[in-house]
This record gives sequence, structure tokens and C-alpha cells, in this order.
Amino acid sequence: MAILWTTFPPFPLRRDRGPLMRAVVCRAYGPPEDVVLGDVAEPVPGPGQLLVRVHAAAVNFPDVLLIAGKYQIRIPVPFTPGSELAGEVLAAGAGAPFAPGQRVFGATAVGAFAELALLDAASATLVPDDADLASAAAFGVTYRTAYHALRSVGQVSERDWVVVLGAAGGVGLAAVDLAVAMGARVLAAASSPEKLELCAQRGAQATVDYDRQDLKARIRELTDDSARVVIDPVGGRYSEPALRGLARGGTFITLGYAAGSIPAIPLNLVLLKGITVRGMEIRTFAADHPVEAARDLDELTQMFAAGTVRPYIGARFPLADTAAALRYVAERKVLGKVVIDVF
Ligand SMILES: NC(=O)c1ccc[n+]([C@@H]2O[C@H](COP(=O)([O-])OP(=O)(O)OC[C@H]3O[C@@H](n4cnc5c(N)ncnc54)[C@H](OP(=O)(O)O)[C@@H]3O)[C@@H](O)[C@H]2O)c1
Repeated sequence: MAILWTTFPPFPLRRDRGPLMRAVVCRAYGPPEDVVLGDVAEPVPGPGQLLVRVHAAAVNFPDVLLIAGKYQIRIPVPFTPGSELAGEVLAAGAGAPFAPGQRVFGATAVGAFAELALLDAASATLVPDDADLASAAAFGVTYRTAYHALRSVGQVSERDWVVVLGAAGGVGLAAVDLAVAMGARVLAAASSPEKLELCAQRGAQATVDYDRQDLKARIRELTDDSARVVIDPVGGRYSEPALRGLARGGTFITLGYAAGSIPAIPLNLVLLKGITVRGMEIRTFAADHPVEAARDLDELTQMFAAGTVRPYIGARFPLADTAAALRYVAERKVLGKVVIDVF
């Protein structure tokens, strides 16, 4: 399930020649409301690529940043957003070891919010027989991000206390699910009782409402001062108290900044407690750590096939309402994953 982040050529709005499909198009960088549903040239698979009829696509926070032109990479407009999908193979390019009719899921940089999409065969995985396509679409990015962080970067072991910030969001709930599956103890931190209740249902042993409680103090109390790893996809004002709550020698893993600001951490905190601060970025992790990445993907694929983990889908939208789905994510409303039902 190696996920390659290919930059597709942008899909221009074309009415002049060739078959057309319905697709969401970002014509200019801006807010979710600026994306439109339009007719776009059907993509043609090249060598090593699959043409997939998209049944479901999942929304990730980076999609909101990409359409705003605020992500680490900039896709030239016009382009079709959407970075993970599941569907049926319609055609396979030369050297792509899949056959028409097979159900696959995978990730790409853009192009998933459309009736048809291209997937690099190297990033495609067969959907297990007993898994539905929405779950498969929602599994790739956040679970892979969370698992690399927990398994390879944090080296989480059974009984370790793992603190997860934004624990009811996409990356956050994936981290909760996977840490629980690994036998770790999870302290879930989020901003509302509803979000914390979901985390508890998914197996978190302890919860903290970090908008109403003292995050550092609660981490220390609830873990008996033994929090070993912090998983942080949120940033902003939540990072420093979480780092302060770590036990001596703990590991703080920074994954993203959904809160909208990148925190500056006083380095003396790191020095005094012997803390390790690590970053993990899904697009570069496999290239930098190929052995660990391959092992993690193998283990994740097995967990998904066995049904050990299944993403929680908190909201679903039709393709025509993709702008509303992106707005929903941007406004911090997500519980687990948001899925676009395409077909
Ligand atoms: N490192 C990587 O490779 C990698 C991969 C995928 C995603 N990411 C990054 O990880 C972050 C989370 O992505 P995601 O898909 O999990 O997003 P998500 O589902 O929207 O979850 C983000 C969480 O952040 C919290 N949050 C706090 N302030 C927020 C704000 N002002 N606006 C929105 N959310 C806010 C929310 O939880 P509360 O309401 O409980 O605070 C929300 O549940 C993003 O920054 C994304 O770019 C990184």
C-alpha cells in the first residue's frame, strides 16, 4: 500500500473534445465555497496507473489547505481536489498489476472528488471482501500517518500512555484506534464532550477537554506522570501544555497545525526533561525510511483486512455538496472522517 504522491497534470475544464465526467474543480485558490462541480475531460491512465470509477472519496484537512493555496505544496489551478478514494478499476495502464472490476483504494495528491480518477498502481490496495468502499476510502491517509507516528517514530509499546491531541479528528481518531490496537493506554484530548465520548467509545482510557481543563495538569494526573508519547496534529496553543505534560524522556511528535498556527516551543523544556521532538510527514517518510514504511504499511493492511481497525465515518456528503463537506472540515466539526459518496 505504498502511497505515492504524484502531481497530476491539472484537469482543465474542457468541452471541446473527448468524453467528459463530473468533477469538482478548484478554479482559483480560495475558500470551500469557491469550488464548483463541472464537466472535465476523463483522465486516461498512463503506464503504471489505474483508471478508477470512484465510489467514495474521503476529505482530509490538507484538502482545505490545498484549495486555499496554503499547503506545503501548491497545485496549479485549475485542479480537482481530493486525495483518497475507493472504487472499481475500469482500466489498467501498462505494467499496472490490476484487472478491470477489482475494488481498490488508495491515495493520490489530487483528483479524487470526481466520477473517475487515476491512481498509481503502486499506491493501490485491493479492498478486502468484507470492507465497504467508504471505509476503504477513509482508511489510507490518516491511519497511515498515525501508524508511522506511533509505530516507527514513537516506538509505542503495550501499556505506554499515549496522549492524542485533536483525538476525534481524522488523524487523531486513527491514532486512538491504532494505539488501542497496539495495547497502549490512550489519553484523548479534544474540544467537546461529544468528541471525547466518541474517543472513549473507541477505547481511550482517559479524556481531557483541552478548551476547558488544564491540559498539562490533567495529563500528569491521569497518567500518573508517565505520558510517554504525544501525537499532535493540531499545533496552536495546545502543543506546549501537552509537551509540558510528558514524562521525562518522552517523545513529542508534531504532525500538523489544524489550529492554524505553528507553535514555538521554549527549548529549555526539551532540555530539562530530556524530551525528544520529532516530526513525521507522510509524503517524505517512505523515501526517508523505506524499511519501516514498508513494514508499517504491511501491518496496517493486515489490520484492515482482518477488520481489527475500521475508520469512524462521522458525516457523508454527495459529490455535488463537496464544498459543504470541505466547509464542515474547515469548521472543526469532524468526528472521525468525512466521506464524499460519488457513485
Ligand atoms: N504529517 C502528515 O503526514 C499529515 C498527514 C495528514 C494530515 N496532516 C495534518 O494533520 C492535521 C489534522 O488533519 P486531519 O485530516 O486529521 O484534520 P481534522 O479531521 O479536521 O482534525 C483536526 C482536529 O484539529 C482540531 N482543531 C483545533 N483547532 C482547529 C481549528 N481551528 N480548525 C480545525 N480543526 C481544529 C479539531 O479537534 P478539536 O475540536 O477537538 O480541537 C479537529 O478535530 C492537519 O494539519 C493536516 O494537514 C499531517
